[in-house]
Formats: sequence, structure tokens, C-alpha cells
Amino acid sequence: DVMIIVYAVSAYLIGSVPSGLIIGKIFFNTDVRQYGSKNIGATNTYRVIGLKAALPVFLCDALKGAAGVLLLSSYGPMYMILGGILAMIGHNWSLFLGFKGGRGVATGLGVLIALSPIVAGICLFVWTVIVYMTKLVSLGSIIAAVLVPFLMFFTGESYWFVGFGALAGLFVVIRHRDNIKRLLAGNELKVERIKKDE
Ligand code: G3P
Repeated sequence: DVMIIVYAVSAYLIGSVPSGLIIGKIFFNTDVRQYGSKNIGATNTYRVIGLKAALPVFLCDALKGAAGVLLLSSYGPMYMILGGILAMIGHNWSLFLGFKGGRGVATGLGVLIALSPIVAGICLFVWTVIVYMTKLVSLGSIIAAVLVPFLMFFTGESYWFVGFGALAGLFVVIRHRDNIKRLLAGNELKVERIKKDE
């Protein structure tokens, strides 16, 4: 079915849309890549611009992930996973940013909500507790991501979903390489507003 290829390419292209960059530039005349962690995600958008930009960025990035899953949902669970992974690949290695991109946390959450709302809810809860206690979004994201394959297993999902969790979790961890270095060095950026010249 040639449409599978069309939908798969679309999932990657939708994932590739850098909403943090677009919303920051168009509505706030700010390139979030120049400040803070230099990341294009909702966390850094909050640091640089504030909640009024970070919330729409988070929602758009999460929607990209859910869209990737839904695009291929009529072909069955394996293809839903493919669509979700492709949206995450698009976000992390964007066609529109010379194959650079984000960390895939909000997009991954969108995928997870579409695949398993229960696992998504548990991850969001764990993430919220860690971020609330430490103000380190990267730490919350890494721990929540690593939990996904185990949560898929213990909630009785298929091995395809467990496999998805392992791959998506791996993506999130490898995209946090710089964060991990900073966490270990004790100088990771917290989630708090910054002045643009910092
Ligand atoms: O979703 C990305 C988050 O986990 C870390 O963002 O800007 O602190 O690198 P940042």
C-alpha cells in the first residue's frame, strides 16, 4: 500500500516542524536557540520567553507525536509505533534544521498518550514529581523515558509496545547527552526564567 509510505513520510515531516523556533520567532521575535540550553523545546522556551510561549510549544510538539501515531493507526499497532517513532525522529533530527532538533520529550509524550494513556499518565506523574522537587526538567525527562519500556511490560502491553518504549527511551536519553554531562558535573540549568543575555 503506497499510502503507508505517504503517511510515514508525513509523520516524519510533521515531526520535523520546529514549533519552538517558529513560535519564538514569529510571535516573540526571539530565536530560543541563542539562549539558555539553546534547545528548541518547551523547557527552554519557558526559560527564554515564558509560559505564554512554552505552553503552545509543548502542545504543538505533543500533537506532532500523536499525529504521527494517528496517521498510521488504520494499519494496526505496529504501524502506529512506526508513525510515532518517525515523528520523534523528525523532531530530533529535523529536515528543516539540517537534521538537528530537540530532545523528543513532548513529542514522545504525545506518542505515548496515543499508544498507552495509562503509561503516559504514570510517566507524566513521575516527571512532575521530579521536576517539582528538583527544577531539573532533564532529570525528570530521562527518568520518565527510561521507565517507559518497563511500564509497557507491567501494564500488559504487547512486546511491540515494550520495544517502542525501549527505542523511544533510548532516543530521549541520547538526545540528553549534554544534559547528562551537566547533571553529573552539577551545573545543569534549572527551569527558571533567564535574562536573554545570559
Ligand atoms: O525536554 C527537554 C528537557 O528534558 C530538557 O530541556 O532545555 O533543559 O535542555 P533543556
